[in-house]
Amino acid sequence: RDRAVDALTRLVRDVPDFPEPGVLFKDIAPLLADGPGFAAVVAALADLGRDDAGRPAVDKVVGMEARGFILAAPVAVALGVGFVPVRKAGKLPHDTHQVAYALEYGEAVLELHQDAFAPGERVLVIDDVLATGGTARATCELVRRCGAEPVAFAVLLELGFLSGREQLTDVPVTALTTT
Ligand code: PRP
Ligand code: MG
Repeated sequence: RDRAVDALTRLVRDVPDFPEPGVLFKDIAPLLADGPGFAAVVAALADLGRDDAGRPAVDKVVGMEARGFILAAPVAVALGVGFVPVRKAGKLPHDTHQVAYALEYGEAVLELHQDAFAPGERVLVIDDVLATGGTARATCELVRRCGAEPVAFAVLLELGFLSGREQLTDVPVTALTTT
């Protein structure tokens, strides 16, 4: 965990005025490009899906398109459990559930396959950044609608001033770093 926090501190790049003026973008590309740094954050996230004896405590890891995929898939492999993608509208081919969430302008829709989980499966939800919490909240609602239980939500970076954590009242939230 210390190594992960160190890597995040060194390797997440602040990009001013992206994607629009006044926004300070947190770019994780340098972190992903650093082998030991990437490995450290994946290991720290995977630890959140283990019990005290080090066994997997979740049945699936869910990641949200697009940046969540990059982290959630290796976390699933590290835990030895399956990965389930939450996708933006219109990408999943089979029957889906859909949940709309607010963007700065307008709204967007996330989808999950209805048969993504066995009933009651325990799910670790992983994304890169927690900002307003809209993406996280919609994802946890989708997981429940598909008959599974989001037992933990984790990100590399929480933008604390946006209070996104307040959107997730009944799922424990872990951020490896907060700004
Ligand atoms: C970004 C980020 C999180 C989300 C956080 O995704 O990767 O998923 O915003 O914001 P929120 O807490 O306000 O919902 P985005 O949809 O911008 O793009 P991506 O496809 O690159 O992940
Ligand atoms: Mg995203």
